[in-house]
Amino acid sequence: MKETLEKIKAAAMAELSSADADIEQIRVRYLGKKGELTAVLRGMGQLTPEERPVVGQLANEVRAAIEAAITEKSKELKEKALNDRLVRERLDVTMPGKAPRMGHQHPLTAAQREMENIFIGMGFEIAEGPEVEYDYYNFQALNIPENHPARDTQDTFYITDNILLRSQTSPVQVRVMEHKKPPIRVISPGRVYRSDALDATHSPLFHQMEGLVVDKGITMSDLKGTLETFARKMFGESTEIRFSPHHFPYTEPSAEVDVSCFVCGGKGCRVCKGEGWIEILGAGMVHPFVLSNCGIDPEVYSGFAFGMGLERVTMTSYVIDDIRLFYENDERFLKQF
Ligand code: DAH
Repeated sequence: MKETLEKIKAAAMAELSSADADIEQIRVRYLGKKGELTAVLRGMGQLTPEERPVVGQLANEVRAAIEAAITEKSKELKEKALNDRLVRERLDVTMPGKAPRMGHQHPLTAAQREMENIFIGMGFEIAEGPEVEYDYYNFQALNIPENHPARDTQDTFYITDNILLRSQTSPVQVRVMEHKKPPIRVISPGRVYRSDALDATHSPLFHQMEGLVVDKGITMSDLKGTLETFARKMFGESTEIRFSPHHFPYTEPSAEVDVSCFVCGGKGCRVCKGEGWIEILGAGMVHPFVLSNCGIDPEVYSGFAFGMGLERVTMTSYVIDDIRLFYENDERFLKQF
């Protein structure tokens, strides 16, 4: 019986020393109710009274030794697990980080901000107006009565008979003049809508930037100086501007304004389509009817106004040949700016 106990002890110790998990199973097998050691103790009845205490003591020693080995082993395994985890989860602070991808302004926004800053530098303020507008502001107050042919050139989205999506930023001129008396110096960038089919140069939604200056003694030369300063800051110091006669119902006289091509300097190239000049805006002296519609006396005050297409200016300065690129949000395009 002593031998059996020694064997059990040796076997348990050997198993424990090589165990790397699940020592609970070993404990049950040796020390559990149906375990090997328990079986031996049950057989003690067959021993002589002299042998019994000796074997009993040995059995207790064996049990104590196995228990101690189990405790020891489980401590060891726990430590090992912790160390393994520490090694596995070690942070190498010298590893290069994962840099988050940085977004940036859309090219249209960037161009708009650049244009705004140029005008702010000349003392202009920024005015806003609604995109859902009354016919009155979009047309009538601007001297474009019903049945006026100018309405045909701007295919307008109507919501009701007298409410529409503004087809130009010019109605902001009227809204500003209604609320603010001269001196007025504002620009107003924003979205405009026309029911045009989408193609390389047209979009039913696009952006304009309106400008308006009203004060005593404002003349056409103020308009020219302002636009020349803008063009040189926007397209380069050697840029020239060119006025040609035009017609807008809300300005008199009216002009179409071109800038000399900043790529070829006026010789003619792909960007200016061989012209040497690029048309960027419409402008003129605010029509006396428009001033009086807004409660400003045209005998005392005069003003100039202009309106340019933001896409137009941006496409020109970045040499982009398809307006749809602005709205498709294709990263391959956007990443280039
Ligand atoms: N509203 C015109 C357009 O959409 C642009 C324009 C022309 C604005 C002359 C003006 C202006 O303020 O004076 O084509």
